[in-house]
Amino acid sequence: MAKLLIINGPNLNMLGTREPDIYGHETLLDIENSCITKASSFGHNLEFIQSNSESDLINKIQQSRGLVDYIVINPAAFTHTSVAIRDALSAIEVPFIEVHLSNVFAREAFRHHSYFSDLAQGVICGLGSQGYLFAIEAAHKFLSE
Ligand code: DQA
Repeated sequence: MAKLLIINGPNLNMLGTREPDIYGHETLLDIENSCITKASSFGHNLEFIQSNSESDLINKIQQSRGLVDYIVINPAAFTHTSVAIRDALSAIEVPFIEVHLSNVFAREAFRHHSYFSDLAQGVICGLGSQGYLFAIEAAHKFLSE
């Protein structure tokens, strides 16, 4: 059994009512439940968190060192701004996948750059909440090899 951590950045707590044309109608709790079901089907333990605070996200990442086997992160707006969260992920040496609900490359130019993608094992975007489930499958495959 592996320990997976799913990290969600700012405003993702508003999923369901936040720009549903872009982000869909599911709430973050719906996504959390699907992720727990998927991780459990592989026998893995999953923690799912969200914060609007950059420092909370950094602290959580730092505390994961040695305790978490794999991270799936949707850094939300911090994708495009946060060297500090990038540095935290780089420091703990836990493999991770970057996920976005929307296709950031089909949106405003400022969303085309990510501070995370070059460090990530993979990036999934534009597939809605399914992206989280694909990331869990990929994490499972990686951890099984
Ligand atoms: C997002 C894309 C980001 O550009 C945006 O700031 C978000 C959500 C996504 O999941 O599509 O908050 O990460």
